[in-house]
Amino acid sequence: MPEVVPLRIERGRGVRIIDQTRLPHALVELELRTLDAVCEAIRSLRVRGAPLLGVAAACAMAIAGETVGADDESLAHAATAVRATRPTAVDLHRAAEAARAAAAAAGPSPEARRAALWDFAERLLRAQRERDAAMARHGAALLPVGARVLTHCNTGALATGGIGTALGVVREAHRQGKLAHCYATETRPLLQGARLTMWELMQEGIPATLLADGAAGGLLASGRVHAVLVGADRIARNGDTANKVGTLALAAAAARFGVPFYVVAPSTSFDLRCPSGAAIPIEERSAEEVASFAGVRTAPEGARVFNPAFDVTPSDLIAGWVTEAGVLRPPFEAVEALLRDAGEYAGIH
Ligand code: MRU
Repeated sequence: MPEVVPLRIERGRGVRIIDQTRLPHALVELELRTLDAVCEAIRSLRVRGAPLLGVAAACAMAIAGETVGADDESLAHAATAVRATRPTAVDLHRAAEAARAAAAAAGPSPEARRAALWDFAERLLRAQRERDAAMARHGAALLPVGARVLTHCNTGALATGGIGTALGVVREAHRQGKLAHCYATETRPLLQGARLTMWELMQEGIPATLLADGAAGGLLASGRVHAVLVGADRIARNGDTANKVGTLALAAAAARFGVPFYVVAPSTSFDLRCPSGAAIPIEERSAEEVASFAGVRTAPEGARVFNPAFDVTPSDLIAGWVTEAGVLRPPFEAVEALLRDAGEYAGIH
C-alpha cells in the first residue's frame, strides 16, 4: 500500500507538500521555501485539513525564522501572516502561537531559536501521527461488525499527516475486518470528498461509494448506514462543532433517521475558550468556487453567491467526540488536561 505523505519537513530549508488541488489527476509535490509560499499554499488549499494546517503553520514559522528573522518581532509578524490565511481551523492559530512561544523559550540566540522552531514543527507532526492512531482505535470500537459508514469532506492522511481522523477510523475498522462499506459525499464546492477521500479509499482498496451531497439525506433515511463519521476544524467548550460546510445538514438528517453521528478530532482541534459555536469564526471563500465548476462558469454572470467553507453543528446532534483520549462529551475536562500537559502546547490551550 503506498503511504500518502502530504507534508515532509526539510529541516533548516523548508517544507515539501503534495499539491492537493492537483489530486487525483496528478501527484505533484511542491517545495515551499518562504513564508509567503506557505501562506499561499494554505489559502489555496494546496495543503489543508485542520491538523495538517497546524503542522503547516509550524513549518511557516520555522521558515520565517530562517528567512525573515527569529527575533520576537519578526515571529510576531510571521504569526499574524499565518493566522490571516484561514480563520476557522484552530490548529493553525494554536500552532502559530505555540511556535512563537517555543522560540521565546529557547532564549536570545538566533541559532537556538531556529532549532526550537524546527523542533516544534517536527514534534507536532509526530504527535499528530500518534493522536491519529489512538483516535482510530477508539472510533473503530464504536462500530458494529459489518459497519456501513458515511463520511464528509476529507479527513484522511492528506488532512493530518497520520492515518487521518474520521477516515483513520474507517481505515482501522477495515483493517480489523469490521467495515463493510464507506460512503463519501462529494463535498461541494471544492470536492474534497470526490477528489481526495475517494482517492485515499481506492488506494487502500477500501470498499467505497461516492455520492452527491444532496443524496446523503436519502441514504440516511434508507437505513443502510450505521454511523456518520466526520472531522472538525474547531470544537467549542459546549461541543458545538465547526466542520466542512454540509456537515450540519448531515447531522440533522442523521438525527431524524436515528443514525449516530460522531465527530473524530484530536485535542488540538478543541477551542475551550470558545463557549459555543456562535463564537467560532467561519471562513467565507470566493464566489467563483460556487458559481463555476471545474473552471467553467455555471451561474449567470452577476449571480449573488453565499460560500461559507464551514458550518457549525450544534452539540445536541452529536453522539460523541472521538479523541486520542477516548470518546468524550462536553465539558471536555480530559481535553483541557491533554492540552495543558502536551509538551508542544504547554501554556497554549
Ligand atoms: O477546507 P478544508 O478542506 O481544509 O476543510 C477540511 C475539513 O473540513 C475537515 O473535515 C477538517 O479539517 C478535519 S480534517 C481531519
